[in-house]
Formats: sequence, C-alpha cells, structure tokens
Amino acid sequence: MLATGPNGAGKTNLLEALHVATQGFSPRTRNDRQLIRFGSEAARVAVNGRRGHAALEAVVKLEAGAGKHASLNGAPLRAVEQLRGELTTLVFTPDRLGVVKGAPAARRAYFDRALGRLSPARAQLPADYGAAVAQRNASLRRVAVGASTREAIAPWTQQLADLGSQLVAARREALALIGPAFVEHAAAFGLDAAELRYDGEPPTVEQLEQRLSRDLERGLTGAGPHLDDVLVLAAGRDLRSFGSQGEQRLAVLALLLAEADLVTARRGASPLLLLDDVLSELDPARRRTLAACVAGCGQALLTATDPAMLPADPDQLVEVRAGTAR
Ligand SMILES: Nc1ncnc2c1ncn2[C@@H]1O[C@H](COP(=O)(O)OP(=O)(O)OP(=O)(O)O)[C@@H](O)[C@H]1O
Ligand SMILES: [Mg+2]
Repeated sequence: MLATGPNGAGKTNLLEALHVATQGFSPRTRNDRQLIRFGSEAARVAVNGRRGHAALEAVVKLEAGAGKHASLNGAPLRAVEQLRGELTTLVFTPDRLGVVKGAPAARRAYFDRALGRLSPARAQLPADYGAAVAQRNASLRRVAVGASTREAIAPWTQQLADLGSQLVAARREALALIGPAFVEHAAAFGLDAAELRYDGEPPTVEQLEQRLSRDLERGLTGAGPHLDDVLVLAAGRDLRSFGSQGEQRLAVLALLLAEADLVTARRGASPLLLLDDVLSELDPARRRTLAACVAGCGQALLTATDPAMLPADPDQLVEVRAGTAR
C-alpha cells in the first residue's frame, strides 16, 4: 500500500496511527499526549484485518490523564503492552538511520529491542541489566562519599556479572539469527559482504573487582555490556563512519527485512511493515529491489510525496490530503 500526499498532509500520522493500534505506542514519541488531536481530550484508533484465516480487530484508546487501553477482538487487554505479544509491526522512519550512523547506545537499544521481539521471554533482560548497573553505580557513589562500605557493592557486582553474562549470550544468539538474513538482504541492495559484528564478552566478578578503584573514582561501572557496540559493516568498512547516506539507509532496511523474515518464520504470520519516507535517497535500481521485496513479504505501507517514487503499481493507493485519507 502506498500513501502519497504533499508535505504535512498526514502520511506520517497515518503510519503512526497503525503503529499505535498494533503495538500500543508511537515510534516517534513516548509522550502519548502528543498523539491526541490538538484541542481534544481523547483519541481512538481501530484496525481491522486478518491473522492467518481469523478476523482481527485491535482498538487502542488514549485519554489525557487516564492513560491507554487496548482491546483485541472486543476483549479488553490487561495492559496495552500485551498487543506487542500478539502482533508484530516493524517500522522504518528517517530517525531509524541512527541505528547505523548514531552512537553505540542507539545500536544497543535497537538490537536489544530486536532481541525482545525474537525471544519475548527475554524481552525484560536488557532493562533488568540496566537496573543492576544503575544500582551498582548508586552503591559506588555512596561508598565514595563515605556513606557506605566497599562490601555493600559486592552483591551488585555479582548481579551485574550474572545478568550481564545472560545479556551477552542473548545478544549473540539474536545476532546469529539476524546476521544471515541481514547479509542476504544487504547483498540484494548491493551492499557487498555485509556483516554484523559483536565482540561483547560476559563480564566477570573478578574483572569488575579488579577495576573497583577506578569505578569508585568515577562513580560509574566501566566494564560490561552496557558499553558494547554492534558494528554494521560492508566489505570491511564500518558504515557508521564510512557509509554514504543511501548505504546507511539500505543497511537499516536490510536489518528490518531480516527481522521480518525471522518473525514470519517464528510466528507463522508476516509482520506489518511501515516504511515512512523510505524511497527518497534511493536510486531507481534500489527502489525496484525494495518494491519487489515488500511485495513478497506480507503487508507493507510505504509513504511518499510522489507516487512515481515507487517503481511498481501498489495494490492500494491512498491519497492523503489535509489529514484525510482516500
Ligand atoms: N496532535 C496533533 N493534532 C493535530 N495535528 C497534529 C498533531 N500532531 C501533528 N499534527 C500535524 O499533522 C500534520 C501532518 O503531519 P505528518 O507528519 O503526518 O505529515 P506528512 O504527510 O508525513 O508530511 P511529510 O511529507 O513532510 O513527511 C503536521 O502539520 C502537524 O503539525
Ligand atoms: Mg512524514
């Protein structure tokens, strides 16, 4: 499906609404108030579709001051987050380029979320590890100001080593799954010998104890997977520093399509793909590759200011004008 219309017409709004209805949150902002129409107190978004052969209706309601509520086929969900366990939507927005060209934190956050999507049982692990790091850092600072003893740090060091080792193992597994499909999609886009490289090592209690004096000085834990990076390479070049804008975009797309393949294989249903402004900066050959690829992988919504940017006839063309879709 292609949504077209001039700048400011509401294409991104439409895409965002589909994300909210299927995942319970916006890919753009965590501030739900921004999702409610200016001057209104509430918003509601409902989508109807099919999952396999079964009909499906997801509804999300947002009320200023009263939070969010979701229902699936008429049954209210305990928490909006449950939608994510039921439906998968993968999104590309120009902000997502940060996954390749941004700081290591952006890549860690992205791959940790991908890990959660591929293995929902471990979705909480990155946050649990992050909490352990924060607790240990707080403990380091208490000792540094004399409000506590060095022994008080030990339980946090142990927990950090335990959760950190689990996180490194989970990341390695997730990257081993995503890697081959990423390489394949990247090659189709002309990115030769693409590679995801993760060198993270599980932190150990010994290693953390050895650097305790330095950590106490800085009030920060200076080793562990919260400092790791995942390199995104093509032909041995780090695309963060040496990729062109278009190559960085293609790498993000290849990651998204790789994840779509895995979700399809694991859940037996293709994810919904939302691709905002994806066609700009791609040359005609790459646009054709992308058009062929999305035509074969479930349902996809692309946005563009000009329908001619998509070098294929979409199954559905939606014209967006001043906030109305036709
Ligand atoms: N909460 C809101 N209530 C009403 N209007 C809003 C709200 N949030 C954003 N808008 C407006 O919606 C308009 C459409 O924005 P949108 O990002 O969807 O446009 P677009 O079609 O994607 O444009 P572009 O081609 O430039 O990306 C903007 O002018 C914006 O000011
Ligand atoms: Mg837009």
